[in-house]
Amino acid sequence: MCGIFGYTGHKEAQNLIIQGLKQLEYRGYDSSGLAIQNGTHAICVEKTHGKIKNLEEILKKTPLKGRTAIGHTRWATHGIPSRENAHPHLDNHEQIAVVHNGIIENHFDLKETLESEGVRFRSETDTEVIVHLVAKYYKGNLENAVRRALKDLKGTYAVAVICSSEPGKIVAARMDSPLVVGIGKTENFLASDVSAFLEHTNRVIFLENQEIVSLTDNAVKITDIAGRAVSREPVKINWDPAQAKKGGFEHFMLKEIFEQPSILSAIYKERVNGLKVHFDELKITASKLKSIKRIVIIACGTAYHAGLVGKYIFEEFTKFPVWVDTSSEFRYRDPKVGKDTLVIAISQSGETADTLAGLREAKKKGALTISICNVLGSTIARESQGVIYTHAGPEIAVASTKAYTAQLMILYLMAIYFDQIFKTLSLGQSRVLLKALSHVPALMQEVLDMYKKEEKEWAANAHDFNVRYHEGLERYFSADPAGRKRSPNGFFLYLGRNINYPNALEGALKLKEISYIPAEGYPAGEMKHGPIALIDENPWVICIAPKSKTYDKMFSNIQEIKARNGIIVPIVTRGDTQIHKVKPLYVVEIPEVEEIFSPLVTILPLQLIAYCIAKEFGEDIDQPRNLAKSVTVE
Ligand code: F6R
Repeated sequence: MCGIFGYTGHKEAQNLIIQGLKQLEYRGYDSSGLAIQNGTHAICVEKTHGKIKNLEEILKKTPLKGRTAIGHTRWATHGIPSRENAHPHLDNHEQIAVVHNGIIENHFDLKETLESEGVRFRSETDTEVIVHLVAKYYKGNLENAVRRALKDLKGTYAVAVICSSEPGKIVAARMDSPLVVGIGKTENFLASDVSAFLEHTNRVIFLENQEIVSLTDNAVKITDIAGRAVSREPVKINWDPAQAKKGGFEHFMLKEIFEQPSILSAIYKERVNGLKVHFDELKITASKLKSIKRIVIIACGTAYHAGLVGKYIFEEFTKFPVWVDTSSEFRYRDPKVGKDTLVIAISQSGETADTLAGLREAKKKGALTISICNVLGSTIARESQGVIYTHAGPEIAVASTKAYTAQLMILYLMAIYFDQIFKTLSLGQSRVLLKALSHVPALMQEVLDMYKKEEKEWAANAHDFNVRYHEGLERYFSADPAGRKRSPNGFFLYLGRNINYPNALEGALKLKEISYIPAEGYPAGEMKHGPIALIDENPWVICIAPKSKTYDKMFSNIQEIKARNGIIVPIVTRGDTQIHKVKPLYVVEIPEVEEIFSPLVTILPLQLIAYCIAKEFGEDIDQPRNLAKSVTVE
């Protein structure tokens, strides 16, 4: 939700800001802007509606000179996406500029007071109060003015400020929205996420809540809200900057889908040593873990689906009962968690507001908390008692793919790790499992190789759907001769059973997110309890039916769909001849894999179906409408 980038140093700032914002565009992309100190004690602002390329075009025609600047890419919360509401915002004397990520909850009250003091507001945003407050308190020291202004604010923020009277300086602060400092040589950076400046430096300092940082080209000074100096050593990030680039793929989503086998294989190698699982960064002792009696998993969206798979995994490998909850529901109930509960919070970004709130609630109730996060140093990672990083590298496409399978890999390894501590399975059994898991990345690669070979057929199938979809719409709007409206074709039903049921939800979510086509995921056994009413010759039904103990049941469900003329697209184990009896539209074959690990393989065709359809429909695959990568507002 909004990305911030700041630079101060020996280079011209404009293009660095644009490049940095492009890396952060996944956080929001409805408008963008930058404010630059041009060295003549003035601040120049350029901002515009739409994507960063619009801003880039303007700046190509009228470049802005200067070596200290702050930039912003927006996901609107208060005020429509427009030039006026785009950041940076200026004070009435145009001396101070502010960019902000978060929500100022008391902005109405602050605005009223400021207006009564003669301040003129130019936007509908909550952010604008910040710049007027800083201007109000500015008495020749920007850091003090920001510190004073923060005391008036209620809500969440990562904020960066520049002032024309203090050239070369950026002052920034955070409260519940991420902010990271990048330490360079005679230059320093500031961003919402490390990947934005990774090309320039991998030495970073993560700011904590209520800290203020003052950056110049050769100094980084951190203080707390009371003005006390804070000393913190930079940490080194080992992400490869190339991971944040498309690397020859048409879209980040496709690149990230293709990265999955190598990421999972690297996770396995990192975490498994001599057929023993270890999590070095997990600072929770085995004896502490022995006090737990049950596990609660909280997460949102795709990470929630990973949590649902986690339930099947933990219940199979360990003795614990497991509950899974969407974070936004968990936090507003009165969940019965306590000292005997392990709460696992799963979050790619580590910044999702609802998951963070759920984690805090769990801690308040005395539960032991472990997070599974991808973004290093993220808030959820830092606030949980133990963290396990997925190390999947930066995930840039808004629709999550590689983070999902990396989360699943960690959940498998965690369950086996627990099993090694609690000895639920014999040593031999857990070794067999680990061995089987080690082969899964190669099976995933087989699916991707098959896609590469059959890419044209996949595109043709997506085109076929597109044609039927539009024919269906025409039929719907013109009605048939009897005057009845027929349901349009544009609907997908995803069915799965047992451990593949969460993938049905995830497949449907992927399609909805990037192609805007309605899709529902269901446990196949539930179909008769409602969704079967939707089946006629129109919707496409994606049936996840690999070889498993529930295959026969799944096959019966598929026949029920066939009996109602449904269009069947099954995902089956290679060599399944029976499936052809139901005359599927086309069959996706995957290699044979142990049922328990099959979600890691069945998810790939689901991700690719969503990708191909969104591409056929010409949608903006990496940056779908209305979405943002990390949801830091409730
Ligand atoms: C789906 C997607 C979202 C996220 C959800 C949680 O493709 O990306 O549903 O999974 O917003 O985000 P994290 O994992 O960052 O907490």
